[in-house]
Amino acid sequence: MDFLDSGEKFKPRKDRDRDRDRDRDTTLQFLPASDPKQLEKKPGQRRKLWIGGGLLLAAAAVALLSGLLVWHFHLRRDVRVKKLYIGSMEIRNQPYLLDYEDPGSPQFSQLASRVSRQLKLIYSKNSVLAKHFKGSTVQAFSEGAGDGGEGVVAYYESEFDVHVLQQASLDEAVESLEPGTGSQQNQGQGRIMLRPTNALNFNNVISRAIDPRMTRNSLSVKEQFNLHVSSAGLVQSPGFPDSSYPPNVYLQWRLRADPGHRVRLDFHTLILEDDCRKDFIQIYDSLAPIRKRVLTDEEKNFPGFRANYSQIPAAQQKCGGTLTGDKGSFSSPFFPSNYPPETKCVWSIEAPKEKFLKVQFKTFSLGNFSSQCPKDYVDVNGERLCGRKLKSSVITSRSNVMTIKFNSDSSYVDQGFTAEYEAFVPTNPCPLRFQCTNNLCINQTLQCDGWNDCGDGSDEDNCTCAASQMKCKNGRCKPKFWECDGFDDCGDKSDEENCVKCKPAEFSCRNGRCIPETLKCNGEDDCSDGSDESTCPKSLVLQQCSALTFRCRYGRCISKLNPECDGERDCEDGSDEDDCQCGSKPYRSSRIVGGQASREGEWPWQVSLHIRGTGHVCGASVLNNRWMLTAAHCVQDNGPNKYSQADQWEVLLGLNVQSQTNEWTVRRNVKRIVAHPDYNPFTYDNDIAVMELNGNVTLNQNIWPICLPSATYDFPAGREAWITGWGATREGGRAATVLQKAEVRIINSTVCKSLMDDEVTDRMLCAGVLSGGVDACQGDSGGPLSVTGPSGRVFLAGVVSWGDGCARRNKPGVYTRVTKYRRWITEQTGV
Ligand code: ARG
Repeated sequence: MDFLDSGEKFKPRKDRDRDRDRDRDTTLQFLPASDPKQLEKKPGQRRKLWIGGGLLLAAAAVALLSGLLVWHFHLRRDVRVKKLYIGSMEIRNQPYLLDYEDPGSPQFSQLASRVSRQLKLIYSKNSVLAKHFKGSTVQAFSEGAGDGGEGVVAYYESEFDVHVLQQASLDEAVESLEPGTGSQQNQGQGRIMLRPTNALNFNNVISRAIDPRMTRNSLSVKEQFNLHVSSAGLVQSPGFPDSSYPPNVYLQWRLRADPGHRVRLDFHTLILEDDCRKDFIQIYDSLAPIRKRVLTDEEKNFPGFRANYSQIPAAQQKCGGTLTGDKGSFSSPFFPSNYPPETKCVWSIEAPKEKFLKVQFKTFSLGNFSSQCPKDYVDVNGERLCGRKLKSSVITSRSNVMTIKFNSDSSYVDQGFTAEYEAFVPTNPCPLRFQCTNNLCINQTLQCDGWNDCGDGSDEDNCTCAASQMKCKNGRCKPKFWECDGFDDCGDKSDEENCVKCKPAEFSCRNGRCIPETLKCNGEDDCSDGSDESTCPKSLVLQQCSALTFRCRYGRCISKLNPECDGERDCEDGSDEDDCQCGSKPYRSSRIVGGQASREGEWPWQVSLHIRGTGHVCGASVLNNRWMLTAAHCVQDNGPNKYSQADQWEVLLGLNVQSQTNEWTVRRNVKRIVAHPDYNPFTYDNDIAVMELNGNVTLNQNIWPICLPSATYDFPAGREAWITGWGATREGGRAATVLQKAEVRIINSTVCKSLMDDEVTDRMLCAGVLSGGVDACQGDSGGPLSVTGPSGRVFLAGVVSWGDGCARRNKPGVYTRVTKYRRWITEQTGV
């Protein structure tokens, strides 16, 4: 067996749900603490999450919860509820003993009862807490976070009995014990004498109401695993990957590293789902699931997962320093993996005396934005930046030095940033280039070309329009053929005004008819093609189907435009939402020619087709765990090259960097190739082919199918699309090693036909950037043109087919129009 073959089976979600219901009572098989087979695996490079508290503490909890949530709020007057709080406290004057890892040891019980008494004492000083307090149990201890790891951290659960309506005031009272929360601040920390000889010097008491999802009565299994990560191992959902995990389980893994180390988690697979209120996994920088210490974003859930754990020395996270020279770059620790919590870095940039400095952030992802950036932030010369979108990506100094600080707090981590700096002469900041208002320098040729190259539009202001351009109301110039293409190019819609097809106050139907505007969304199909009802809150069942309307499985058509996989059930039989596992991107996203490098797993449907002995030749897209879609011209015999023969090919899935395969990359041989019977090698008409692998692959977050659009799916002109591939990065240039991505726009067919010398048939789709500079190129063929649909799912709009050179001005790329082949694809592959 090929060593890249992980041999895992994946079940589609629907089957898993079915199994889940059927297997409700099956006994659980939990993972062993460490699987010896897995220990041989190399540490992963996938997605890393750093866990670890202070410098020398290293403990983490991973929690998985599954099953349906049912909350009952009985707001009757007399109802009292049991409220649990989970918390931690640092004990300074107590050495950490190995025995504390064993809850059965006398040392554990001894310290635990001291902590419980301490907590009782603390609560007794607050009238609300004293009144409702029932008792505390200590759940675990870990090494302290102080330098040298002295001290102990205790994790406990405290129970209160409270009237339903007083829960909020109880929450408030508990949180008021924490350091830095106002007047009661000192009650929760300091030195409280229990008995003169038995004083606990404690600090940093934090507690939070336990997530109610974790204490549900319906949970049939609640288990904890204590693992030491000094030897690597893995955690995964029960039954992974052969079957789905059962419902109503709550599992907690407590991961400990050696003193002076951090826990590192590399996610091998996180299969994403839409609803994380039901099933989720959460990671805490703590041995107990205290919300204040949660590291994962709550919007993400990972119902099926596997992660490798290991430890790394805490000292390895060194960052910051002095940067000199005219140019350079720096990034947050461990980029592109997540930065660790509680990290501080300081960079000092020093340029030659007479110069000023400019820093440009190329990527920036530091949690959710909130004003003043109290949590994780980058500080540039005293200005704090946070969030995921910067007002301006360029920051300039007024001297030759610049100080950049990076700070992360104890909860929620993110990917971080990369930045480049450049020194410039203040009197001439952009030699021979155009200076944007935001201080970016761009090539002079980009000024007044109709594209916002500066990012702030300043390169398109005050332009004199050329003969081939139209003048927008706001003064910008745009190519004439962008007028009336259905996209607001001017930014003030003036290029889409006066597009006289219908009179004012008339609606122009997709089929060209004009109807009074008032008939739009009146619940009747006045256009006779459903288009006047296609973007309304309610979808109509139409009297008749047309080439532009979606046909439900039961045969009737509905008026809604592009209803498939948009997260709403529009067909009576729900068939518009069937098979919608496709097209989900595992990550939040950020030139091919004019493209930039992709993140691993960013385009999980992208495939690299290799010819044995030659290497990468073409791209393809994953349709399911067996079928790939590519261009027919990739699989044509070419003199001595017998590209039509399956045994010539090798398929690489889950790849990001050519020649850098890892344990998650899958290599497969090809069983069968079917090129479209009507492919025309002279015109490239019907340039489409499917490829069957000689064995199924396990889908994972790096290998995931893209959604196929129905025959009636509409990709309107102006819609943003992404091209991806390892093809040449310039016309006549060399192929890329790292998968490239570039954003283009769908181009109106009439415009495209007029621009191209060769014939553009109705089975082709044009996309590109008409000002040039961004395009697919040799070696990208067969790869996807990806368009994100309304619910965030990605659809395959086109297959890279041909072009006039690469990235030339007014020469868009031409793609196979996938909607035209929906039926043919199903006939060949069953997808
Ligand atoms: N035919 C080329 C290939 O085999 C792809 C051409 C795409 N060209 C373009 N300018 N969009 O890789």
